Amino acid sequence: MGERVYIFDTTLRDGEQSPGVTLNVQEKLEIAHQLAKLNVDVIEAGFPVASPGDFAAVQEIARQVRGPVIAALARANPEDIDRAWEALKEAERPRIHTFIATSDIHLKHKLRKSRDEVLELAVAAVKRAKSYTEDVEFSAEDAFRSDLDYLCQVVEAVIDAGATVVNIPDTVGYATPFEFGEFIAEIRRRVRNIDKVVLSVHCHNDLGLAVANSLAAVENGATQVECAVNGLGERAGNAALEEIVMALYTRKAYFKKETAINLKEIYRTSKLVSTLTGMPIQPNKAIVGKNAFLHESGIHQDGVLKERATYEIMNPELIGLPQSNIVLGKHSGRHAFRERLAELGYILQDEELDKAFARFKELADRKKEITDRDLEAIVKNEIRLVPELYQLAYLHVSSGTTIVPTATVGLQRNGTVTEEAACGDGPVDAAFKAIDKITGISNLKLSDYSLSAITGGKDALGEVTVRVEYEGRTFIGRGLSTDIIEASVKAYINAVNKVIYELGEEILKKG
Ligand code: KIV
Ligand code: ZN
Repeated sequence: MGERVYIFDTTLRDGEQSPGVTLNVQEKLEIAHQLAKLNVDVIEAGFPVASPGDFAAVQEIARQVRGPVIAALARANPEDIDRAWEALKEAERPRIHTFIATSDIHLKHKLRKSRDEVLELAVAAVKRAKSYTEDVEFSAEDAFRSDLDYLCQVVEAVIDAGATVVNIPDTVGYATPFEFGEFIAEIRRRVRNIDKVVLSVHCHNDLGLAVANSLAAVENGATQVECAVNGLGERAGNAALEEIVMALYTRKAYFKKETAINLKEIYRTSKLVSTLTGMPIQPNKAIVGKNAFLHESGIHQDGVLKERATYEIMNPELIGLPQSNIVLGKHSGRHAFRERLAELGYILQDEELDKAFARFKELADRKKEITDRDLEAIVKNEIRLVPELYQLAYLHVSSGTTIVPTATVGLQRNGTVTEEAACGDGPVDAAFKAIDKITGISNLKLSDYSLSAITGGKDALGEVTVRVEYEGRTFIGRGLSTDIIEASVKAYINAVNKVIYELGEEILKKG
């Protein structure tokens, strides 16, 4: 058995800081429950002082999610720390994570404070956090660009003040693996009381080195790695959780370390995070990309058929990639549907199951074979996490190279169907305009639109993700159909329903 490496997941905090990503409280809660199933050691649930939404999400996660430590971020000041504790206090295992920058560049231009002042603030923050909870993490922001002597002085002082975890971030993703490994080794050598704490790293991916740097740190004595599912995070993101975990697992003989991660939940967690954040996974992404276990060249296919190990270093089943060859179709009953979902790990309540089964039947009428990927898409996209105030009743579009694209849309709300028609730059634009006329929300701005095929073939399910802006806030909507215009319309309606759910029905009067 190797030494333990703790996995600190920051998908809901740093990951949510990815440009364009925004999650509501229910979505964060659903991800947190899934992270608990994945068995991460720590869930960083958010930054409570940042907004009432962040506070509410941390509070709900602290109340409901059991198993992992629940951490909340706080700058090194009393207000942030008090707010973090307020949100965390009902957690089974709370952790306050406080931070302040230690690099001269941050001290001079951002904090406008001397090294002594920052040292004092760091110690005071840890002491205040410690007055609330035993488990206190301190992060030296921009640690890698900090003067090493000063950094070691701060680390030693915060440990004396009671920090139980000290985190060394490469905040701007500047380090290279050998250097970062040495940096961690040097901190271990120089800091007198370092053995009293869990030594953590937090690497950003600006040069594409976040995973490599984190692993180099582990080789040099780091015992906690901060990472995010699918590598989400500020700018180019954080170290990808699934890559760290699978590297440690696959190369166990080399690293001699282990995590407690439930590997079988990796694929499902990745899919859920991608769906809820609206951040697609690039096909060639390591571990969870669509192509990660596909073999295209004849030589490789031949090799794998003879012996998997020729070209596969990991078994896809390990990460819970659906492997079933059972194909459901329009004659499949509710029982087979429920069984297959259960095999895929989705246990639905009766009401959810009814809804998903109805979507499945609709799809089976249009598509000959329903694959596991289709089923996952149904579960994740069609089981709405917000009330469906508006529902699509019908849709007609006319479009072509010589006519003005026009759409007629019927939306049902509280049992009444309202119809509107509009012209647009294309059929999707026309349909969105017709929806805006029905809801009366005129200043909704579409800021992003993406379409991907769930499975191959002419009858593939199309998954549309739209991002809309309303009064400076971003909402993500998703829709699924074999017809891409219908998928687009459903995605837009989903986003509209989220706007209404978050901001209240009064906005319908406001327009
Ligand atoms: O990148 C960083 O330095 C951070 C800290 C707040 C840990 O996200
Ligand atoms: Zn970060």
